Amino acid sequence: MIQLKGIQKQYGTGAAQVTALKHIDLTVNKGEIFGIIGHSGAGKSTLIRTINLLERPSAGQVLIDGVDMTALGTGRLQEERRTIGMIFQHFNLLTSDTVAENIAFPLRLAGQSKAQVAARVQELIGLVGLDGHGDKYPSQLSGGQKQRVGIARALATNPKVLLCDEATSALDPQTTQSILSLLLSINKELQITIVLITHEMQVIRSICDRVAVIDGGEIVEAGPVTDVFLKPQHPTTQEFVAQVEGNLNESLTVKNYAAGERTMIRITYIGEQTYEPVLFETMSGCNVPFVILQGTVSRLKETPYGQLVLELRGAEPEAIRAVELLRSRGLDVEVLRHG
Ligand SMILES: Nc1ncnc2c1ncn2[C@@H]1O[C@H](COP(=O)(O)OP(=O)(O)O)[C@@H](O)[C@H]1O
Ligand SMILES: [Mg+2]
Repeated sequence: MIQLKGIQKQYGTGAAQVTALKHIDLTVNKGEIFGIIGHSGAGKSTLIRTINLLERPSAGQVLIDGVDMTALGTGRLQEERRTIGMIFQHFNLLTSDTVAENIAFPLRLAGQSKAQVAARVQELIGLVGLDGHGDKYPSQLSGGQKQRVGIARALATNPKVLLCDEATSALDPQTTQSILSLLLSINKELQITIVLITHEMQVIRSICDRVAVIDGGEIVEAGPVTDVFLKPQHPTTQEFVAQVEGNLNESLTVKNYAAGERTMIRITYIGEQTYEPVLFETMSGCNVPFVILQGTVSRLKETPYGQLVLELRGAEPEAIRAVELLRSRGLDVEVLRHG
């Protein structure tokens, strides 16, 4: 478990001082994939780098499995750091070393024998799907392959935590998905806790269990992805959700339809409900015509969900009855607008 308690970070002094983190309290549970999303300059890299103390916080504590990282001497800190792997947006590979030598680097540093290193490197190359590429140089690899080397190197010393600083931001969407799948299988099969930062909601939606939204050095919203994604409260969160869901285009509603006879509602389905014909069954029983203004059916990690925005056409009492019927079938229905 990772606990950040009252973390503050200032860079520089005097007039040039920048406050990157104001007051961060955050807990990441063992075995989960925790995402931190924010715009450029929000403090994401600073925050993730405080976890392994690449950045020392100006105030506050970093506890990993109860060990206060901020209180450790250099030797102990180095030992603890070996239990935390990290990958980066631009991969940070040694360009004059081969794939195998890059992956071997932390093992050599840890003082392992040549034979041990060679065996472990082969194992890691297989794990990340780079069989046959061990003798290549980074310049001969695609972006996705380079990140696979980064991942293999980060996992070399069997860390319990993997930190990912915008690990897919330099990759195209398809390669991003393949790297996210690899991270998900590493999390499941090796039980490694993953903390990732990103500015892309798609990354959060694909693999994260919980998410925190950071804005101006502060966490403005946090919780399970299913809650934060489906019911975003803070404007910044709403903006990120709109990246993947699109904004509701209100101009789609028919302006010349009788005033007072249009009710806009949003229905949220989650889990198995997504596949049930509840909408059809309910609406066929209540004689309220409707149009669909916006709709998504997708997945949050492995959970199917759907969101539909409907405009009900009819007098208010009938519309309200329809809403009540939908709710009685267990659907989450918000009335966005009457009239
Ligand atoms: N080494 C540094 N020295 C001074 N200011 C920095 C340094 N690193 C980051 N900052 C500032 O701290 C703020 C947060 O930066 P960063 O953590 O890199 O954000 P993000 O990763 O979300 O883009 C920004 O205003 C940035 O300019
Ligand atoms: Mg950054």
